[in-house]
Amino acid sequence: MYYPEEIIQEVRDRNDIVDVISQHVQLKKQGSNYFGLCPFHNEKSPSFSVSPSKKMFHCFGCHAGGNVITFVRMYENYTFQEAMKVLADRAGIKLPEVEMTEEMKKKAAKKQCLYDINKTAATYFYYRLRNQGGELGLNYFKSRGLTEETMHKFGLGYALQYSDDLVKYLKSKDYDDELIREAGLGVFGEKEGMRDRFINRVMFPISDANNKVIAFGGRVMGDAKPKYLNSQETPVFEKRNNLYGLNFARSSRSDNFILCEGYMDVIAMHQAGFNQAVASLGTAFTPEQAMILKRFSRDILLAYDSDGAGVGAALKAIRILRDCGMNGRVISLKPYKDPDEFIKAEGREAFEERINNAGNGFMFEIKVLRDSFNFNDPAQKTEFQREIASKLLDFEEELERDNYLHAVCEEYRISEDGLKKLLFAMATKRGLKRERVEVSTEFIEPVSKSGDDDPDGYAQRLLLTWLTEEPEKYKKIKDRISVEDFIDPLYRKVAESILEQLESGKTDPAAIMDLFDEIEEQQRVSEIFHTKLSALDTEAEKEKAFYEIVVRVKEESLNKSRSEAGGAEDIKKMVEKKKVLENLRRAGRL
Ligand code: UTP
Ligand code: MN
Repeated sequence: MYYPEEIIQEVRDRNDIVDVISQHVQLKKQGSNYFGLCPFHNEKSPSFSVSPSKKMFHCFGCHAGGNVITFVRMYENYTFQEAMKVLADRAGIKLPEVEMTEEMKKKAAKKQCLYDINKTAATYFYYRLRNQGGELGLNYFKSRGLTEETMHKFGLGYALQYSDDLVKYLKSKDYDDELIREAGLGVFGEKEGMRDRFINRVMFPISDANNKVIAFGGRVMGDAKPKYLNSQETPVFEKRNNLYGLNFARSSRSDNFILCEGYMDVIAMHQAGFNQAVASLGTAFTPEQAMILKRFSRDILLAYDSDGAGVGAALKAIRILRDCGMNGRVISLKPYKDPDEFIKAEGREAFEERINNAGNGFMFEIKVLRDSFNFNDPAQKTEFQREIASKLLDFEEELERDNYLHAVCEEYRISEDGLKKLLFAMATKRGLKRERVEVSTEFIEPVSKSGDDDPDGYAQRLLLTWLTEEPEKYKKIKDRISVEDFIDPLYRKVAESILEQLESGKTDPAAIMDLFDEIEEQQRVSEIFHTKLSALDTEAEKEKAFYEIVVRVKEESLNKSRSEAGGAEDIKKMVEKKKVLENLRRAGRL
């Protein structure tokens, strides 16, 4: 741990989890918990819960979960220390300076090293652009109409035509070959050894939402291929989870985002004053990116290329946005190819007007569809109407569906009655698109009598869940179950803390969370505290289930010892376990 347990505890206690999460998610009180739409996956009905008593959050849909620190780490993509810092500041707590332990250093080091080397490389490319040898790059950017201010804002740079210019520099700063390769800044050749990956290209550093350089895109200045070379994915660079320009756009005061296709488009937009522009990163727009944009509750305007490929990409993006519960609108750039060209030719005000006239995403889809049919052929016209009806069925809300139906009929001179009939016929055949089944509540499965093993440690997990839900049950098992009965290492670590807390008489699940560094581990722990036990109605049923779970855990523990027993000590333990189990079985209850 970087910080003493007391400090972490204080940070947790003084940041009310409901307050913190409410800043980002709209929560509604329901019983003793709060519910809202999960910010980590798309859903239409709330399965994201926040429990003030447990001081934890948990999503029953995507299984994200943890305490207030976990939330900030996941939401902001922060490390543990960064999240601690933000929350400590928020509560006015001063964090002590702490030395990291060797183990923590190693773990935290990898990402930090990647951030460091990327920053160093960015600074170097930036320097190269503005110094001797960089004229080529500088002239290129100037020829594309970029001002010095814009180049500075985006940290644009240049990679020289020598094959190991950057590598040499990085080595002089004590970065080793392995890291250079891992960061995607160098490639290893049998003969040449380590050489630069980016050669003779103008460089676009890619930053995450918190302004840290995580990767690069490098563009050739002529017609060579590939036009852009991008860093490969690394632990700090996940393309699907980042957007170019979001570090600036997130604090723009606009009520919309302008989604573009390319780096140059974003830069041109910002230079023209549209600092709400972002772009996906050399890949198609992803649902993850949609979910990130959704957090800001702004309109999404698409400014995709007006050529065939751009239209296809826009259609895909519209569908992704719709699946994520957002309605994209489409900015027409005609007769220009992309936002960059448009701005150069027509300027800021003309673009502003195009924003105001941006068409509805659904109507855009229909228009594209229309162009694929030849209306001189009545059969094709019918086909067009069928396709419309089929698309309209995707709207779950009747009012929304009717509004679109009306708009489409108006635009394409289709009889509203006719289309309604068609829609009705299709709906009865196919059914309206149903709400996705969101929450898979877990029920207690019957404990297997055959002694099958339980690879997921389900019984162990249930026992832990039950003990936190009903601490008074601890008395009944305290002489029968010990930490050693928990086989899964993660469950054992949790058991250690829970049993200790139960022994001292107060439970605090949120504290247990912070024993685990990795978000993935925290999700599994969160699961323990949010497994549903409510499937059983009567007290007697509950008693029986609890008994069976204890027996099951003991059985598994005994089986495990059998398969591992070696020394005299092991055998002694095994015999003890066997005795407890036999007693339990004989009693038939706790
Ligand atoms: P474009 O070809 O539209 O490039 O690709 P652009 O951004 O408009 O750049 P200019 O104006 O030609 O200089 C759009 C985006 O697709 C990715 C890049 O992210 C680019 O910004 N791309 C394109 C690549 O990753 N590699 C390529 O070879 C081409
Ligand atoms: Mn372009």
